[in-house]
Amino acid sequence: MPESILELKNISKTFDGKKVIDHLDLTIYKNEFITLLGPSGCGKSTLLRIIGGFVQPDEGRVFCNGVDITDLPPEKRNLHTVFQKYSLFPHYDVAENIAFGLKLKKKSKEYIRDKVKYALRLVNMEGFEHRKPNLLSGGQQQRVAIARAIVNEPEILLLDEPLGALDLKLRQEMQRELMKIKREVGITFVYVTHDQGEALTMSDRIIVMNQGLIQQMGDPKSIYDEPQNAFVADFIGESNIITGIMRKDCLVEIQGQDVMCVDTGFQKDEPVDVVIRPEDLSIVPEGAGFIDGLATDVIYQGAYYDIRVLADDYEWAIQSVNPVMCGTRVGLAILPENIQIMHKPRSADEEVIRGK
Ligand SMILES: Nc1ncnc2c1ncn2[C@@H]1O[C@H](COP(=O)(O)OP(=O)(O)O)[C@@H](O)[C@H]1O
Ligand SMILES: [Mg+2]
Repeated sequence: MPESILELKNISKTFDGKKVIDHLDLTIYKNEFITLLGPSGCGKSTLLRIIGGFVQPDEGRVFCNGVDITDLPPEKRNLHTVFQKYSLFPHYDVAENIAFGLKLKKKSKEYIRDKVKYALRLVNMEGFEHRKPNLLSGGQQQRVAIARAIVNEPEILLLDEPLGALDLKLRQEMQRELMKIKREVGITFVYVTHDQGEALTMSDRIIVMNQGLIQQMGDPKSIYDEPQNAFVADFIGESNIITGIMRKDCLVEIQGQDVMCVDTGFQKDEPVDVVIRPEDLSIVPEGAGFIDGLATDVIYQGAYYDIRVLADDYEWAIQSVNPVMCGTRVGLAILPENIQIMHKPRSADEEVIRGK
């Protein structure tokens, strides 16, 4: 069993009569890279601020290494927060910015010099010691902010969309560097993002949130391959989500056609949500698949074609390495194990969770 470092117990927070965090329980383990992922406004930053001590929960307690820290101010917690805005001191150079916390702690000159050097190497910013922040790019400023956090040797690093202001290419480069830093320093990362690709790339574990509730948690592969409800399926990558009827074990009716699947344990003729990833559908000649339709849109994406096929009144999304002609009729085929069957939400509340 991995050792836990943070425990959130029954946390709730309401702003202006709106419940932003709703009776949330979460355990975070030592040295893991955990990502809070969800759409804007779902409560990720609020949860991170509760961990950091910037926001007090209305209900519930936060434990760090078994000690209740709910009433401790941020500076008494052994963690450090990096925000999207770089918040460097403009009149200090890079080295002074990084050394700031260590000076407050009255560390020796030699100690500070070694630490700053180590941190600059870690974030690939050697040679920038004497630059002022306004002469650095956004990505470089964020590296300095991360270096400044790391020299203080926090047990936990909290990062709130730290790469959100960077363009895609730089963001991907920084993602790789953050993973390298994580491997080298052995601290716990709690990372907030609304970007599912970023979460899938970097995390040991992903917590998918919506409307203040945890929808699913697990490693990236299980979140992607086995979403537990339609919200997660829809949020993590594009999915086809269509209503079906479970005829019996391993047989689901989709758009009037009986299709083999591998799911069992549903009621006979239960209405279900059928989830199929675009890359799991293949285009076959008309009549050779489980359904036929009209190719209405074909866009080349580099590694694959993004194809839309209209069958009855449902538009299927397909990713295929082979193109088809727009306006032709095609069939769609699927392997039974690539079909995910989910229970329909049972109440209006669950509809809300799905964001519908
Ligand atoms: N200090 C605050 N005062 C009032 N409402 C807030 C405050 N902080 C957050 N909220 C509201 O709480 C909800 C969740 O916000 P937040 O945690 O920032 O979401 P996320 O980081 O997932 O985008 C939003 O509706 C937001 O407007
Ligand atoms: Mg936020």
